[in-house]
Amino acid sequence: MSPHDIISPKRGVEDELFIPLRPKRLSEFIGQKRVIANLGISIQAAGGRKEPLDHILLHGPPGLGKTTLAHCLANETGVNITVTTGPILERPADLIGLLTNLKHRDILFIDEIHRLPRVVEEFLYPAIEDFALNVLIERGPHAKSIRLSIKPFTLVGATTRAGMLTAPLRERFGIFHHLDFYPPQELAEIIKRSAKILQVELDDGGARAISLRSRGTPRIANRLLKRVRDYVQVKGEKSITTESANQAMEMIGIDHLGLDELDRRLMSVIIENYNGGPVGIGALSATLQEEEDTLIDMVEPYLLKIGFLGRTSRGRVALEKVYHHLGYSPPKDLKKQIGLFDGEDSDNNNT
Ligand SMILES: Nc1ncnc2c1ncn2[C@@H]1O[C@H](COP(=O)(O)OP(=O)(O)OP(=O)(O)O)[C@@H](O)[C@H]1O
Ligand SMILES: [Mg+2]
Repeated sequence: MSPHDIISPKRGVEDELFIPLRPKRLSEFIGQKRVIANLGISIQAAGGRKEPLDHILLHGPPGLGKTTLAHCLANETGVNITVTTGPILERPADLIGLLTNLKHRDILFIDEIHRLPRVVEEFLYPAIEDFALNVLIERGPHAKSIRLSIKPFTLVGATTRAGMLTAPLRERFGIFHHLDFYPPQELAEIIKRSAKILQVELDDGGARAISLRSRGTPRIANRLLKRVRDYVQVKGEKSITTESANQAMEMIGIDHLGLDELDRRLMSVIIENYNGGPVGIGALSATLQEEEDTLIDMVEPYLLKIGFLGRTSRGRVALEKVYHHLGYSPPKDLKKQIGLFDGEDSDNNNT
């Protein structure tokens, strides 16, 4: 595992081993208080009416708990959840079985819903609006379709790129929740909870040290906790302290803000090769030899959040803070150079 695999919010095989760490009930879900409170109300109200929940769209950067929340919703309402993901649904036929098997109030969870093929998306419209399917039974000049009704259910969609959803799909959701990066105190709570489950000894300082380098992301916090646990065990220490946590994370190459080698490389390339920007994502992806999607989904959101990176209509720019962090002196005319930094495109869901 490279340092980037540890710090990347990307799902990894290893995360499967973390399933026991995943909260099962909303009451165990730490942070995102407003989202949880609102979902609680939606659940209670729908339950009172014996209706399924309205369709819910969860959006936000990877590793913040969208999938976890979808499962919590099913557990809270005592219904089944069927899980699928946008890119594997290639044709409408792939959805028919899933939809017709749903029972009253069940949840259909579609991950990466922004990657649903258009034909599948259009097939889904009547299903979510009227709980009906238009199934084509013959092709060609005699094409005929029949209308099948299905049980009222709840669609929960998850996406890291709300901006890529088509308007008609977006409009069919009744409830929208954005998950944002977690503050260190909440991450420290998540780390303590996970340490308890993993039976690792950790003091307040250790939890705080790990939380500060977790880029606001529970998935990364859990992964770092595991790596630090290995380090402490090999060193023969009994518990994770501020000191041992920091030593372990330095050794992995994660700096005190949680940035790893790829983050630093991205920012250095903007500063050195492109004079601080603006530079387009295509050029950055080519220079760094990393896929655009990886940069947009996994790397940029946190750099935007901490004010290291700016997005303008003309491309990415390095902001003053990152010059200091990486030991460069910012150009005197930095403000003018990034003068077009209008913040307009700073919503990280929109690219
Ligand atoms: N609020 C939370 N409290 C405790 N643990 C959490 C919380 N949110 C997420 N986690 C942990 O972080 C891991 C990642 O969460 P999850 O898989 O739900 O993220 P996601 O938003 O679906 O990510 P992706 O966009 O990559 O699918 C989970 O396995 C869970 O253990
Ligand atoms: Mg997920």
